[in-house]
Order: sequence, then C-alpha cells, then structure tokens
Amino acid sequence: MDLGIRGRTALVTGGSRGIGRCAAQRLLEEGARVAICGRTRETIEEAREDLARRTGGEVLAVQADTSREADIPHLVRAAADRFGGVDILVNNAGTMSSGRFAALADDALKLQLDTKLFGFLRLIREVVPHMRAQKWGRIVNLIGGAGKEPDPYMFGSGMTNSALLNLTKSLSTEFGEEGILVNAVCPGWVDTALWRRNAEGLAAELGAETEADARRLAARKNALNRFGKPEELADAIAFLCSERASYITGVSLNLDGGRLKALW
Ligand SMILES: NC(=O)c1ccc[n+]([C@@H]2O[C@H](COP(=O)([O-])OP(=O)(O)OC[C@H]3O[C@@H](n4cnc5c(N)ncnc54)[C@H](OP(=O)(O)O)[C@@H]3O)[C@@H](O)[C@H]2O)c1
Repeated sequence: MDLGIRGRTALVTGGSRGIGRCAAQRLLEEGARVAICGRTRETIEEAREDLARRTGGEVLAVQADTSREADIPHLVRAAADRFGGVDILVNNAGTMSSGRFAALADDALKLQLDTKLFGFLRLIREVVPHMRAQKWGRIVNLIGGAGKEPDPYMFGSGMTNSALLNLTKSLSTEFGEEGILVNAVCPGWVDTALWRRNAEGLAAELGAETEADARRLAARKNALNRFGKPEELADAIAFLCSERASYITGVSLNLDGGRLKALW
C-alpha cells in the first residue's frame, strides 16, 4: 500500500535508536524527508548516515534535548529551514520512569514530565503553525500502556502517560477542522535499549533471577507471549502518519501484543 506521503516532511524526535529510528526509516522508505534528533552528537550522525544509506532518502540530524525548552524552537526551525515546513511529527524522544511510589524522587518525575509531557507539548506548539498553513498535519505521540492501566511499578510513567493521553484526545478536537490529526500509540514491552536499561529493575520487581526470566514473565502478560520488535511499532506509526489514516484522529492504539485487556 502506498502511504501517500512522498515528499512530505517529518520530524521524528529521538530518531537515533530504537522505535524512533525504525519509524524514521519507514517514513523515508515511503518517500518522506525526515529530521531526527537526539542528545548525543555521534549517535545521531551515525543514524543519519545509516538511514540515508539504507533508504537513499534525505535525512537531517539535529542535536537537541527535548527536555530543554530552549532546544525545541531551534530543532523545529532547523527542520523547517531545511525542508520548507514540517508536515509530520512523531513525538518519540523519551524514556521510562519505572519503580514504585517509595522509590520515586521528585527530580526523576520532573525529568520525565519535562521530557515527555512538556517536551511533546512544546514540539506540538512549534510544528502546528507549519501544519495549519497547509491544512494538513499528522502528530503521533509515543505514550505507553501504564497511562491506561495503572501499574504500581510504572508509577511515574503512568502519571505522565495519562496526561499525554488526555493531551492527545484534547488536541485532536482542537485541530481537527484544520486537517491536523493527533493520535497516540501505546507500546507494551519492545526490544530496545530502553528495555535493557530497565531489565534489572523489572527482574527484581517480578522476583526473576535472570534477565531472561524477567523477559519471559513480562511477555507472558501478552496475548502473543513475546516482546514487540521496533519494526512492528514503526509500521503502525508510519500508517498513522500517512494519507491513508485520513479519518483517524484522537485514538490511542495499543501496540502491545494484546497486553491490555480492557475493552476500550
Ligand atoms: N521500549 C519500550 O518497551 C517502550 C514501552 C512503552 C513506551 N515506550 C516509549 O517509546 C519511546 C521510544 O522508546 P525506545 O524504546 O525506542 O527508547 P530508546 O531505545 O532508549 O531510544 C530513545 C531515543 O530517544 C532519544 N532521547 C531520549 N531522551 C531524549 C531527550 N531528552 N531529547 C532528545 N532525544 C532523546 C535517544 O537518544 P539519546 O539518548 O542520544 O538522546 C534515542 O534516540 C519513548 O518515548 C518510550 O517512553 C517504549
């Protein structure tokens, strides 16, 4: 299926690794021009070269920390200057705030809120004028299942993610008549560096002796009984960014192999 986004311009935050990198690749394969960002210069440069080589597409790499307010206008301006606008935003940069109530320090929660809640919100604020100008836009927010089903071990992420779900739904109404579609995806466990950083803590939480046992126990909650691959997430994200998703807005799509069991 042709996704109908050839020549469109996309900004994928945190496109140097994991889900963001795979999403950037899918958008490039569909003919979009793509800007990625990350905090680490060498990593984004390596990703830029690799993505361009694999796809033959046009990739811009910008060093930016989306938890820092000042970096965001600079990031969006760099993409718009290079491509003449921003049609698609994948709000992906971020990490997970894992651990229970007793372990949550205010500073850790503030960093999570700065990166995901304020970072996503500020990026949307900067890209919307570009989308509004042409009455076409796609925004996809990477959230997470703990926003829908509170999990004591994901206390910090859960609070942040619930706010992001509210933001997604509210802005889909705000911008709908202007042709700007705002959707979310909620990953379950996906095989990336983020999972590996959390493996030890999750093993302790689950009473698992090894990382492999922790993975098995975590995956067992899924109908598919396995972790997701970043490529599987990227396909769904690219679809939501596309012309083919033209009647979808305000949804939060669970990409979790059937982990969440609620009807809605
Ligand atoms: N993997 C999962 O199981 C899972 C589950 C639920 C939700 N998610 C969400 O999915 C998104 C992607 O996760 P992932 O697993 O692909 O993570 P990952 O492998 O750790 O990759 C994260 C990417 O974001 C960048 N990044 C992180 N913080 C940033 C910041 N403040 N400013 C700019 N770039 C930043 C990283 O580069 P630098 O470190 O160089 O900045 C990297 O490119 C995240 O928002 C995460 O919360 C993931």
